[in-house]
Amino acid sequence: MNLQGQTILTGIKPTGTLHFGNYFGAIKPAVALGEQVNHQGGKHIMFIADYHAINALKDAPLLKQLTRELACGYLACGVNPTESYFYKQSDVPELLELTTILMAYTPKGFMNKAHAYKAAVDRNIAKGEPNDAGINMGLYTYPVLMAADILAYDTDLVPVGKDQVQHVEIAADIAGAINAHFGKQILKQPKYFTTEATEVVPGLDGRKMSKSYNNVIPLFADDATLKKAVMSIKTDCQDINAPKNPDEILLYQILKGVAPADTVAEVREGLEKGGLGYGTIKKMLLQALIDEIGEKREKYNDYLAHFDTVEDMLRAGAEKARALVKPVLERTKDAIFAR
Ligand code: TRP
Repeated sequence: MNLQGQTILTGIKPTGTLHFGNYFGAIKPAVALGEQVNHQGGKHIMFIADYHAINALKDAPLLKQLTRELACGYLACGVNPTESYFYKQSDVPELLELTTILMAYTPKGFMNKAHAYKAAVDRNIAKGEPNDAGINMGLYTYPVLMAADILAYDTDLVPVGKDQVQHVEIAADIAGAINAHFGKQILKQPKYFTTEATEVVPGLDGRKMSKSYNNVIPLFADDATLKKAVMSIKTDCQDINAPKNPDEILLYQILKGVAPADTVAEVREGLEKGGLGYGTIKKMLLQALIDEIGEKREKYNDYLAHFDTVEDMLRAGAEKARALVKPVLERTKDAIFAR
């Protein structure tokens, strides 16, 4: 991909402990993309969306813990805090000024149509509750804060999963409304691109790996916990020597997302011919997980144990980010206040 001089931005909510689905679906590709952009003279912005998290997560100590885990996880997986912009959203207060400005140019109808809000309303209706039960204004106006996250940096591209596409479109529409009002470009309209790698590794029960399904393999767990997760993968009771169709076997599907190609090919052949037992495959899967994450796990634990250094990185990242946001915010205020 040609990313010459582009600004690419991603936000991640600290709302759950990281698992292998996050790793293969989001973290690994994001780190690789960051390296590419940085090598091509662009900007790679990757932040922790802690203000977005509080809409759903009110347990402050838990939020603090998950924020730490996310920061250490990304660093352990290779995010470069010096070359990329790595910070907590809440350390960049200018974003909230921009949010307030964007509010005035955002038709309320945009929010009524936003998927996250609509899904919450649908859940209420299904339960026979009032439409807006339990829905706070933060959730309702979620896309405006997200638009500020994006527009504040003159972002060109936002890599997102399918569920976030509409939010990026809303950001582009809000920028468009402001530009149209002033008859010139004040804010850059971003584009999204979809990274549909989110289901490379199915969960332990075959559904999408997700903490709400309770089917995850935690990313930085110790060997014993990893082993327990792998051993819990359900297998059928076909004879070990019977030829099998690997594509119908969950254990193989999970291994395929995790293990190196030669291991996957070996297992595929063993299943098709018969003779390779599920117990052996589970051992291979466990080894593949440990090989992939072992070194990163050490770094992760090290970062967690020395979180003050991570805090320094995040603070420095926020200072760099604020320097980018300020001129965009000033330009916008110049327009709205005719300064
Ligand atoms: N809404 C995103 C999610 O739930 C997180 C997010 C917040 C984000 N601000 C962003 C993503 C800006 C991309 C750009 O995954």
